[in-house]
Amino acid sequence: MHPRYELTQAGDRYFDGLVDKFSRSLYQAPRGELRLAMLDYLLPQMLNLQQQTVLDIGGGLGQQAAWFAKRGHRVTMTEPSGEMLDHAKNWHRVANELPDNAIDYLQAPLQTVGQFAPGPWPLIACHAVLEWLGEPRLAMQSLADLLAPGGQLSLMVFNRDALRLSNAIKGNLQKALSDQLEGQGRGQRLTPISPIAHDQVVQWSEENGLVVESVAGIRVFQDYLRQPAVAPHERDTLLALEKRYCRQDPHWRLGRYLLYTLSKPETRE
Ligand SMILES: C[S@@+](CC[C@H](N)C(=O)[O-])C[C@H]1O[C@@H](n2cnc3c(N)ncnc32)[C@H](O)[C@@H]1O
Repeated sequence: MHPRYELTQAGDRYFDGLVDKFSRSLYQAPRGELRLAMLDYLLPQMLNLQQQTVLDIGGGLGQQAAWFAKRGHRVTMTEPSGEMLDHAKNWHRVANELPDNAIDYLQAPLQTVGQFAPGPWPLIACHAVLEWLGEPRLAMQSLADLLAPGGQLSLMVFNRDALRLSNAIKGNLQKALSDQLEGQGRGQRLTPISPIAHDQVVQWSEENGLVVESVAGIRVFQDYLRQPAVAPHERDTLLALEKRYCRQDPHWRLGRYLLYTLSKPETRE
């Protein structure tokens, strides 16, 4: 029996109690491998990377923080779940050859990061976090406030449209039709409580003075395969396919995750 964890007062789901489940079902599985491979492929194309300091919000098990640190960025990783943060710290120390002091850690939710690490930051990563918040729209304002003029925000969200399609494919037709796609955020389930549609990202960006510079779909094909790609040559072919179509219309729109680069314009005199 796993303990039941509740949502916070703000309606957010911190990942306490989910370290094992999250690491097993995502990062020790082909889908996590593919997600990391796609981020490794896309981030250098979509971001102007110049070893800027990076704020990684809701950094989870720490993969993205390690990726930036290995490329010479000084990183501050924030995460509200003490269990996730401890896991990340330990993994950074044991399994990664990172320069000393490459990563600072802050246990805090996005909503209070501004009190402890106001920046403003030239580069912020916020990957797969908004869908775990009760009020993702408000979070975009916090992100915009933390970003320096001229700065870049790498935002990745769980795609509501892809969730509808995968429910239909699995035979959950009524669920797809009623559009009640949200998870409850309790127990060990990893269906997000606030899956997000592309139009929402566009609207919320506009509301907060952010410009959508580029977008890509992550895992555009993988979740829909009738036979999983298991053999190494099949995995390689799938990765090549994902790379080829991740930024092409209409394929990117049905990626399990949508990855954006948003920028904050320089303030005018
Ligand atoms: C799906 S995980 C993503 C982790 C990591 N960014 C990644 O891409 O692997 C979602 C993370 O968001 C965190 N989270 C939940 N509520 C949050 C909040 N209010 N502020 C910041 N992070 C939050 C959770 O604790 C969890 O570690």
